[in-house]
Amino acid sequence: MSTAMDEIVTKDTPKEIFLKDYKPTDYAFERVELKFVLDEDRTIVKSIINVVPRSETSNPPLVLDGRDLKLLSVKINGEVVKSNNLSLTSRHLTLSTPPSSPFTLEVDTELHPEKNLSLEGLYKSGGNFCTQCEAEGFRKITFFQDRPDVMAIFTTTIEADKTKYPVLLSNGNLIDHGDLEDGKHFAVWEDPFKKPSYLFALVAGQLESREDTFTTCSGRLVHLRIWTPAQDIPKTAHAMRSLKSAMKWDEDVFGLEYDLDLFNIVAVPDFNMGAMENKSLNIFNSKLVLASPETATDADYSSILGVIGHEYFHNWTGNRVTCRNWFQLSLKEGLTVFRDQEFSSDMGSRPVKRISDVLRLRLSQFAEDAGPMAHPVRPHSYIKMDNFYTVTVYEKGAEVVRMYQTLLGKQGFRKGMDLYFERHDGQAVACEDFFAAMRDANEADMSSFLLWYSQAGTPLLTVTTAYNPDTRCFTLKCRQEIPPTPGQPLKEPMLIPLAVGLLNSKGHDMPLSDVLDGELPLSLTDASGQAVTTAILRVEKAEQEFTFVNIPEKPVASLLRNFSAPVRLLQPDITDDDLLFLLAHDSDEFNRWEAAQIMGRKLMLNLIEQLQQGGKLSVDSAYIEGLRSILCDPLLDKEFVTKAITLPAESELVDLMTVADPDAIHTVRRFLIRAIASSLRKELEYAVEENRSLEPYDPNHSSMARRALKNTALAYLASLDQPEATELALQEYRTATNMTEQFAALVAIAQNPGEARTSALSDFYEQWKHEFLVVNKWLALQAVSDIPNNVENVRQLLDHPAFDIRNPNKVYALIGGFCGSVVNLHAKDGSGYKFLADVVLKLDKLNPQVASRLVTAFSRWRRFDDGRQALAKEQLERIAKVEGLSDNVYEIASKSLV
Ligand code: ARG
Ligand code: ZN
Repeated sequence: MSTAMDEIVTKDTPKEIFLKDYKPTDYAFERVELKFVLDEDRTIVKSIINVVPRSETSNPPLVLDGRDLKLLSVKINGEVVKSNNLSLTSRHLTLSTPPSSPFTLEVDTELHPEKNLSLEGLYKSGGNFCTQCEAEGFRKITFFQDRPDVMAIFTTTIEADKTKYPVLLSNGNLIDHGDLEDGKHFAVWEDPFKKPSYLFALVAGQLESREDTFTTCSGRLVHLRIWTPAQDIPKTAHAMRSLKSAMKWDEDVFGLEYDLDLFNIVAVPDFNMGAMENKSLNIFNSKLVLASPETATDADYSSILGVIGHEYFHNWTGNRVTCRNWFQLSLKEGLTVFRDQEFSSDMGSRPVKRISDVLRLRLSQFAEDAGPMAHPVRPHSYIKMDNFYTVTVYEKGAEVVRMYQTLLGKQGFRKGMDLYFERHDGQAVACEDFFAAMRDANEADMSSFLLWYSQAGTPLLTVTTAYNPDTRCFTLKCRQEIPPTPGQPLKEPMLIPLAVGLLNSKGHDMPLSDVLDGELPLSLTDASGQAVTTAILRVEKAEQEFTFVNIPEKPVASLLRNFSAPVRLLQPDITDDDLLFLLAHDSDEFNRWEAAQIMGRKLMLNLIEQLQQGGKLSVDSAYIEGLRSILCDPLLDKEFVTKAITLPAESELVDLMTVADPDAIHTVRRFLIRAIASSLRKELEYAVEENRSLEPYDPNHSSMARRALKNTALAYLASLDQPEATELALQEYRTATNMTEQFAALVAIAQNPGEARTSALSDFYEQWKHEFLVVNKWLALQAVSDIPNNVENVRQLLDHPAFDIRNPNKVYALIGGFCGSVVNLHAKDGSGYKFLADVVLKLDKLNPQVASRLVTAFSRWRRFDDGRQALAKEQLERIAKVEGLSDNVYEIASKSLV
């Protein structure tokens, strides 16, 4: 049979898929029974599906997706389907005349997980079997209508050697298990909830678990298990704590309770992404589960908390209510990112979390929105869906969700969520359905808000202000403009919530009772009739004026408080004095930080101009004095201080220049860091002294904040490259009792080439070479380094025993790390571009998803000078024309060249 099948295989080419072409399937799948016979050489998958035609009068062809599968047999109602009623291509299996009444479809396939390096479908990691199906990986397991609007009840039987694979897991409840002949055993899992194929999961291997329980608000006892190889179990304590906090938080904040008696998490070392929310069997990249004080940093602890929360929260936002098609991805991802951000805020410091999230948005998403891959939160088309798991869909999507909350209030938002679940539990829906639930629950008028889903590009919001002492009116003139993006030359104005506070000369918030939107009076009182101190203005027109009345003195305006919308705010008439005033007094902590950032950006851009004109660099003391007062304020949160004294990143400057000059940006930033370090030396030394760890490691906010401040101060001091400062960093390195401080000291030392750097790096490797997650930090640190001509070092690290191109974490650490170095990636001689292209082409043959993530580092190529543009273009063209290139890399490379 298989030979006959092989003969009818024809090749077909990748297609662009469009949102406007969406149609529901002609056939529903009600129940799916899968049986896996796992084996080292070949795995057999038998699938039995109850198929129900949606129409009783016609029987159009049934098209199943399938890739890299060997078809063994197809039966309908127990009868073998003749080959003239079948057609098989490299992407589809089509049954030309299926019955027009419900029938049973049986398909047997053979696959080779041990050869699957794409880490999509069924594959082996660390000797164990695991799966990754989102977005379109299930079609690498069996022939199926592999799309999220096909929801079915799954039962999964797994058969495998008992010694090699003692643990057999799938979704739902374990309903049967036992021994078989020849040393084999089996397990049967049934998931009572309907789900799309992308939420299917299977794990088989030698794993142990940490066990715990959680009792839900209605009294259900849930067994929690986190699975890893035996030696890693001690490192799962933080993940388990995070899971229990997340379960409690979702009950408290959204009234959402877990719905099964068992919740499993498995950590695997080879994973393309962070983690996956498969129903009741979440699979995680081990770097987002495993942590101990000695091996993980505070940043790792925070990411674990956030991602464990994220995947857990998907149980309601993603699984119980899922996406109708992949264009709606942000329906679940934007919403779930928003939920994990709120969760982390409640577990730590809200303003600090907000600052980190906005930084990520501005550094990555604003850049994406300004480049050749710009796409709306809901894309209009794609070639490979994997390429659209982007910061736009995730982080900008989360900002869109946050804007509902800003406009409707926390309670109004909760009402909208409740209505969303009431209407759509068990369904596959679209972004409009979420919008409609929010609107209807609040009887709100917000039609121009929907444009946030369809228009790409970061809106530019320009606000000018005027105070009239005679009328005691303060006026804001707003103008919004959305830049053109690929395929979208013209844009409509959107509803932008602009949060505004007005500070009096003492630095206190003025009560804001009345404002006019043009001529229209708006009431600004809160629920209890009190005047508010932050007004949420609805900017909806291209140009719009708001007037605050009864303003007794000229205020300093604090605009876009808490970053109330994902826009670039321009305030042409704001002065340095205003910024220093806001930095010192604003009640909105986000805007205090922002004031320092705006000053930092302005200062750096000025210095770059000075440098380009051959001038000597000098720093304005007001800025440094502003930083000094922040650093010396004992009342401020120490992590907030850390963020406030950290300069805008080099890549942020790249986006702000007409022609980006990486060398000048780098020189200026280093210069400014050193200028700050020498002016504030005493204060920085004090910050190191004062914030040394006294107690054993604890990942609570106040301890993390102490370490953050100490580490930042140490990095400033070590930047001076003076013997005393280097000695201080070395001493911190030697005496550190946790990875957060040890690694931060290493980073501080590694800023300057030389003997101290070389020997600290080799010492660190010797100490940690058996801990693969720590070794990845060591790779990343060297890769991202901005020491001159680093490309050669990175090329050599490709051959280091610590590197393995088949492991995504190592690729992200080394190659992804390298792409984070603006000076070296954009080296004038093009060596960075050439290196990146070499790796992409090698990797594309193994793992297209990871290769294509790396190609996105090219996408900003047009922001640079002609010489660099030509060199980058040459490499992109070299990639795009390779024969047999994956669809993933093809899509990014070709779109980047347009
Ligand atoms: N849904 C996963 C999450 O929690 C990510 C899956 C990514 N899959 C992919 N092919 N890119 O965000
Ligand atoms: Zn997600």
